[in-house]
Amino acid sequence: MADDKKPETIEPGAPPTGTNPAATPPQKMVPGGDAPATAAAAAATGAKPPAARPPAAPRPPAAPIPDLAGRTTTVASAGGSAARATTSAPAAKPATRDPDDLSPLLTRRAWLGLAWGAFSAASAAALAATGRFMFPNVLNEPPQQFKAGLPTEYGMGVDERWKEKFGVWIVRTPDDIVAHASGFYALLVTCTHLGCTPNYLLAEAKFKCPCHGSGFRLTGINFEGPAPRPLERARVVLADDGQLLIDKSRKFQYELGQWTDPEAFLKA
Ligand code: FES
Repeated sequence: MADDKKPETIEPGAPPTGTNPAATPPQKMVPGGDAPATAAAAAATGAKPPAARPPAAPRPPAAPIPDLAGRTTTVASAGGSAARATTSAPAAKPATRDPDDLSPLLTRRAWLGLAWGAFSAASAAALAATGRFMFPNVLNEPPQQFKAGLPTEYGMGVDERWKEKFGVWIVRTPDDIVAHASGFYALLVTCTHLGCTPNYLLAEAKFKCPCHGSGFRLTGINFEGPAPRPLERARVVLADDGQLLIDKSRKFQYELGQWTDPEAFLKA
C-alpha cells in the first residue's frame, strides 16, 4: 500500500516540522536585550522582527566632592543599584623644576638653601672667633700668697686646712732635718712624679700618692714609688700682724740644697 502522504515542503525560513522546539540549539544572547531570540522567532513565524534598541548612552563620570580635609569623594553607580562612595587622598603635586636647571639631584631652590646655610655657618664661626679674641679665658687660680693664722693655732704635725684652697700642707715639727730646730715649713701638695695630689695618712705618718703609689715622709722626702725627688717647700715667714705668711711663688727644692734657705723654714 502506497503511502499517499505528500512530502512536506519546507518554506525557507520556516522551522522544520516534527521537531521538538526545545531541542533547538540555544540562541546567543546579545548585550542590550533579547533581539536575537525575537528575531529568530520572527523569522520562524515570518513576522517582521522588531527594531533593535539603540545602546544606552554612557553616563558621565560623577564629579569629585571635596571634603574639609581636602580629600575628594567620587560617587559611582553600578547597574542602577545603590550608589557607592570612594574616597581618595589628594594627589601629590608633581615636582616642578626650572627648565635650565641641569642638576640631576637638587633643584635650584635647594642649592640656594644650601649656600645660605653654609654662609650662615661661616659667619657664625667668624663671629665666635671674634668674641673669643675679645674675651680671652681668665684662669682663676688661687692667690700665691695667703695668711695662714697665728703660729699658736697649730699643733705638732700636719695641718690640712689649706690643702684644698691653696694646695699647701703646713707642718709643725719639733726638729727639722735640715734646720735642726723646731718650727714650720710649708709643703706643696704636688707629687713630683706626674703631678697628682697625694693624701696624708696619719696612721702611717706619710703622704701617699694615689696615682702610682709614691710615698713621702712628713719631711717631704720621697722613699717609695716612682717619684724622683722630694716634695717642694714654699716660702714661709711671719707677716707684720704675726700670722704665718705662705708664698707659693717662691719654692725650695731639697735636691738643690734650697731647704737651707732661711725662708724655707720658720723657727718657732
Ligand atoms: S703622680 Fe704621684 S706617683 Fe705618679
